[in-house]
Amino acid sequence: MYKLAIVGFGVVGQGLAEILLEHRERLKKEHGFEYSVVAVSDFVKGAAYDPKGLDLAKLLALAKENGISQYPGAKTGWNAIDTIVKSNADVVVEATYTDIKTAEPAYSHFKAALNSGKHLVTTNKGPTALFFREVAALAKSKKVQFRYEGTVMSGTPALNLVALCLAGNEIREIRGIVNGTTNFILTNMEKRKSYADALKEAQDLGFAEAVPDADVEGFDAMAKVVILAKAVMGADLKVADVDRTGITRITLDDINNAKAEGKRWKLIGRVAREGGAVRASVRPEKLDVADPLAGVGGATNALTFSTDLIRNVTIIGPGAGKIETGYSILVDLLAINRTAPAARPAAPKKPAPKKTAKKAAKRMKKIRKRAKKAGR
Ligand code: HSE
Repeated sequence: MYKLAIVGFGVVGQGLAEILLEHRERLKKEHGFEYSVVAVSDFVKGAAYDPKGLDLAKLLALAKENGISQYPGAKTGWNAIDTIVKSNADVVVEATYTDIKTAEPAYSHFKAALNSGKHLVTTNKGPTALFFREVAALAKSKKVQFRYEGTVMSGTPALNLVALCLAGNEIREIRGIVNGTTNFILTNMEKRKSYADALKEAQDLGFAEAVPDADVEGFDAMAKVVILAKAVMGADLKVADVDRTGITRITLDDINNAKAEGKRWKLIGRVAREGGAVRASVRPEKLDVADPLAGVGGATNALTFSTDLIRNVTIIGPGAGKIETGYSILVDLLAINRTAPAARPAAPKKPAPKKTAKKAAKRMKKIRKRAKKAGR
C-alpha cells in the first residue's frame, strides 16, 4: 500500500485524484497497486493530513471551495514542506505551478521529498529542466525514484518510450510539437479565430500556463526541449542555450498566406546531436502540409525520434489536460509499484506445521533418552 502526499492540488493534482478514485479496483486487480492519499497541500486550496488516509471524493469537493483546510478530523495548516517532510507518505507527487526561471518553490519541494527518503513523481517542468542532473543524482544517492513522464507530452509516453522501448538506439534528433496551447492557437487562427480568443479558450480549457508568455513566447517548449536533451541525450544543455522564438509575431495574414502555399505554421521544438554537441531550438516553422507534423492540430503534441537502428519513430498524443496529465502521474506510480514495491505489513508468524512439530518432539525424546543413558 503506497501512501501518497500530493503537493499542488490544481488541475493536474485533481486529475490524478479523479483517476485514483474512479479506478481503485482496476488498479488493484490488474496491477496490484493499492494506495492511500495521506496528505494534500495546495497554496490556494488549503492542506489536510491524516496518516490513515483521506477520502478523495471529500477532498475533491472541498477543493472546489478552496476549503481543503476544513477537512473534518484531519491535521490542517501545514505548508508544502511540512506536508512533504512530516507526513508518513512514501511517495510525493509534486504538481505545483511551474517557474522556468527560478524553478521555485518546486525545486525545494523536490529536494525535501528526496532528502526525506520519499519517491518523487512530478509533472513540474521548471526544476526538471533546470536541475535534472542534480535531482537525478540526489534520488540515486537516497535510493529512491525520480519520475517525470508528465513533463513532456503529458501522459503520452515520450520519456518512458525512449527509456524502455527505444533502449539500445542512439537518439540522434528529436523534433516536434511540444506545446499544446500554441498549437491550439495556431490551429484555431487557421479557422479564422483571433489570436486573443484562441488563447482565452486554451486558458478556459485549463492547458495554458498561468502566465501566457510561458506558452506563446516558447518558454514552455524550451523547458521541454531541455528536459529531452538532458534526460534522453544526456546533454549538459542550459535553458539559455536554446535558440527560442515564440508565436506572438505570427499574424492571421501569415497563416492565410501559408495556407495558400499549401503550408502550415507550427511551433517546432528540436534537439539534435551535431558534431559532438547537442543543439536545441524552439521556433515557428512553415511546414508543408504533407509533413506528418503539419497534420497535428489542437492541443495535441507530436514528436519524431530519429534513431540509428530503427530510423524515425513518431508519436502523436495529448500534450496537456487534466486527466491526460493526471494519467502521467499514474503511469509513474505504476512504474514505482513494479520496481520498488511498497512495504507490505509483516505477515503473522505461522505455527509450525504439525508434521514438523511431531518430528521435533520425536527428536527431543531421542536426545533425552540418550542423555539418561549417559547419566547426564
Ligand atoms: N501549457 C502547456 C501546454 C501545458 O500548453 O502544452 C502542458 O505542459
